[in-house]
Amino acid sequence: MHNVRKVADDIWWLGASDRRIELFENTHRVPEGMSYNNYLVLDEKTCLLDGVDEAVTTQFWENLDFALGGRDLDYMVVDHMEPDHCAVIPDLVRRYPQLRLVGTAQAFKLMGQFFDFDAESRAIKVKEGDTLDLGRHTLQFVCAPMVHWPEVMVAYDQLTGTLFSADAFGAFGAMSGCIFADEVEWERDWADEARRYYANIVGKYGMQTTALLKKASKLDVRLICPLHAHLWRRDFDQILGRYAKWASYEPELRSVAIFYGSVYGHTANAADILSRQLAELGVRDVRVYDSSKTDVSELISRAFQYSHLVFASSTYNMEIFDGMRDLLLDLGNHGFSKRTVGVIYNGSWAPAAGKLMLAQLEAAKDVEVLEPVVHLVSSVKEETVGELDALAHALAASVRGE
Ligand code: FEO
Repeated sequence: MHNVRKVADDIWWLGASDRRIELFENTHRVPEGMSYNNYLVLDEKTCLLDGVDEAVTTQFWENLDFALGGRDLDYMVVDHMEPDHCAVIPDLVRRYPQLRLVGTAQAFKLMGQFFDFDAESRAIKVKEGDTLDLGRHTLQFVCAPMVHWPEVMVAYDQLTGTLFSADAFGAFGAMSGCIFADEVEWERDWADEARRYYANIVGKYGMQTTALLKKASKLDVRLICPLHAHLWRRDFDQILGRYAKWASYEPELRSVAIFYGSVYGHTANAADILSRQLAELGVRDVRVYDSSKTDVSELISRAFQYSHLVFASSTYNMEIFDGMRDLLLDLGNHGFSKRTVGVIYNGSWAPAAGKLMLAQLEAAKDVEVLEPVVHLVSSVKEETVGELDALAHALAASVRGE
């Protein structure tokens, strides 16, 4: 059965959620599932904006058939060619032989790589500022390369002020019928998942995201329709302000997140002691994460949120311990910068982790490593507690801005 919602004059949301999915992009844990939005404009011409993932195609066809009410589909705007929005394109062109596809030249290049049908003969290739006249509605295209694929554009409906924003402003998590951000406790229930989504999916491309925000600020936006999660029709600063911060790699919170990789618990012990020392020095909201247990996407998200980070790792096979090694590699791949950090390392006979962690952190842009770097030899001893206390004082002073 169809399940659609009207979201503006002539504009329908046709999205669906997948609650069975374990890993988005087969790598990021999504315990609350995933939503896939797409939209239909019913004007003199009919126009679909983006498709859905393979997992929700049954719901998509029910929705599209109902919303079209027997009309043909004239256009499909392809803002983004990633398969979680494009699984239905080959079947769409079979069902609607006259369908014209609208996208950037790069989108059509990718379409040819992913699919075998003749896309070129039905292509309308657009570039920055081009428009598509649907009757009352005119779609204006704004290129957003590398947010987060090269072909990405967003579409702005001049009549309703609707910005179809592609992957920008999305979040992990399946949705209920409350598809507008103002219909849920967004701050309480969704802000963390929006950050985790941004940091992991788009985080590497802060400069390009900033460029998109600048272009969007020149439009009279009255509704934001992303490809994942909630639509925004008010309180735009709540999401745009966060994006501005994330895209510039500025932290949201002045406090300390401690990440540890510990084989038998001694490095974890040091992390816990440090967190207690920080609390006693008045630092609020300190968090401690086991990098072997917590999904790396959550750790990346917290690294975007917190101003101060501590990396604590055992040495393992002359390397940084597995989860911490993955975290540092991933942080480097996500534009990690502008943070103040502490380092704790453990090694019972050849403590290689310290040198390796410091090399990675010192290679990052605008990352300050605080003294002392704490070396544990197997377990925490009285003298180590003193060193941890010195690191706690340095972190607390830095969090206070001293
Ligand atoms: Fe939601 Fe980049 O695809």
